[in-house]
Amino acid sequence: MTQPTEWRPARLRSSRALTPDIRLLEIEPSVRAAPVPPGSHLGVAVMIGERPDTRSYSLLDSAADGLYRIAVKRLRDSRGGSAYMHGLAPGARLSIAGPRNHFGLALGRPGYLLVAGGIGITPLHAMALALHQAGAPFRLLYAARTRQDLALADTLRARIGDRLLTFADADGARIDLPAAIAALAPGAEAYVCGPYGMMEAARRAWGEAGRPAQALRFETFGTGGRHATEPFTVRIPRLGKEIAVSRTQTLLEALEAAGVGMIHDCRRGECGLCTVKILAVDGTVDHRDVFFSEAQKATNAQLCTCVSRVVGGGITIDTADRTG
Ligand code: FES
Repeated sequence: MTQPTEWRPARLRSSRALTPDIRLLEIEPSVRAAPVPPGSHLGVAVMIGERPDTRSYSLLDSAADGLYRIAVKRLRDSRGGSAYMHGLAPGARLSIAGPRNHFGLALGRPGYLLVAGGIGITPLHAMALALHQAGAPFRLLYAARTRQDLALADTLRARIGDRLLTFADADGARIDLPAAIAALAPGAEAYVCGPYGMMEAARRAWGEAGRPAQALRFETFGTGGRHATEPFTVRIPRLGKEIAVSRTQTLLEALEAAGVGMIHDCRRGECGLCTVKILAVDGTVDHRDVFFSEAQKATNAQLCTCVSRVVGGGITIDTADRTG
């Protein structure tokens, strides 16, 4: 079972390279887009070889001019979605869903810290523009591997000026999270989107600063964890199934392909709809979601099937609560 999603037609208006790996795509829906709040993401139907699939991409701005803008990075570990998006030519017909928002920005706080790693800049780009427009006190810290990878830095700087600070790993520049958090007013909020390690560091620094957990918000792009991606096996005793999960498949995809009833929404480890109970683990669970707390992850009682994986063996689960 899949949560009902309404798909509608759209057209690719333009596609332009920002860096060798990142393209900026403008999507024109058949019915003019209504303005969307920052943090929203758009569902896009893609083809992975012969197989239809879906991907979701954060919107770069509020679509005030009726166009949805996304930035897509071609990922080394990609299962094919980013390669498909990069291969689209202007005029291509698309099917889109949403936008939806699991990463909403709460306005009216006394201060904001936005922290972006790599392509994680996309939802924070929209937030920075909204905060700038609202006259809110904020800073955007934007880190990437090299200066060239800071794909949206120039356009952002032109819009928000010195509220943007950039950090290139290759230059030895690192974000000082404890200092950035210490500079925030009491009651301020932080929004982080980047690789798993960055989100873990932000969570730790935020906690050590004594800030309330609910004032730190995450979004992930669900491509990396603590361990390298490898194939594993999943067993469901109640259904008498043993399913191989390949390196290029998510656990959720493997379960769906095997006919196991699942529900999902974000497919990015945020909403928690795709979770299953863990009965036993042979190896290590690589929790890659931002839905469960660290304490919950440590119990290994459940995992988000859309992003989390297993290394060194396999896992035994029950999906009873998902099949009714
Ligand atoms: S579908 Fe949202 S966490 Fe997996």
